[in-house]
Amino acid sequence: MGHQDNAAERDSASAVAAYSAPVLAAYDALVLGAVSRFVWRCPAGDMLALYDRNVSARHLEVGPGTGYFLDRCRFPDPGPQVTLVDLSPTVLATAGRRIARYRPAALRRDVLKPMDLQGRRFDSAALNYVLHCLPSGAPEKFAVFDHLLPHLEPGARVFGGTVLAHGVRHTPLSRLQMNLLVRQGVLNNTEDSLDLLAEALRTRFTRHRLAVHGTVALFEAVV
Ligand SMILES: C[S@@+](CC[C@H](N)C(=O)[O-])C[C@H]1O[C@@H](n2cnc3c(N)ncnc32)[C@H](O)[C@@H]1O
Repeated sequence: MGHQDNAAERDSASAVAAYSAPVLAAYDALVLGAVSRFVWRCPAGDMLALYDRNVSARHLEVGPGTGYFLDRCRFPDPGPQVTLVDLSPTVLATAGRRIARYRPAALRRDVLKPMDLQGRRFDSAALNYVLHCLPSGAPEKFAVFDHLLPHLEPGARVFGGTVLAHGVRHTPLSRLQMNLLVRQGVLNNTEDSLDLLAEALRTRFTRHRLAVHGTVALFEAVV
């Protein structure tokens, strides 16, 4: 068990190691601007619309990256309480600076494990472009939803997008890019399918909605 825990920790750490300061500096233009639109065929605006529909005044952001969506989305309240959760201190600092106007709390946590969020409760939680990074296979990775649920109020919304390997239409370019990123350890989605994601949401939430945009599944679920 101890060995397995150590291996899982190494995997989690290597999945976030990619998000160094130079990578984060290029991330919005490269990943959200170019790759998302032209390779995955899901423009950042589609995910921003998901945020605008679901984000609440007590929001938990898992894996904020550069903080792009939190910076741009429309909160229902001018002074939202935002908590950032990430394994990477660089990500927490970068996203925290970007949305400093909201005075976010930042907690270094591994979402693959049950998390102590210091008693905070939320009405929304986003994990955008996080599921496809997680090193455990599917359906095991969907345990992340179980790690969020204890911190969510009834009626809270859980949402985000994830690049799937199965159940979406890949182009030669998207397949090439996905395989390259899998080999580099940036993506860990070879077992991720639309069916497994739908089943994970169906068994944990009161209701959910899934929309496929290119190779990305956009999900919205209600606790
Ligand atoms: C591809 S980035 C997504 C950034 C942002 N949400 C977006 O949509 O652009 C993945 C994020 O998930 C974080 N992450 C990956 N694995 C994690 C884990 N096991 N626990 C917590 N955060 C994790 C990474 O550090 C990074 O911030």
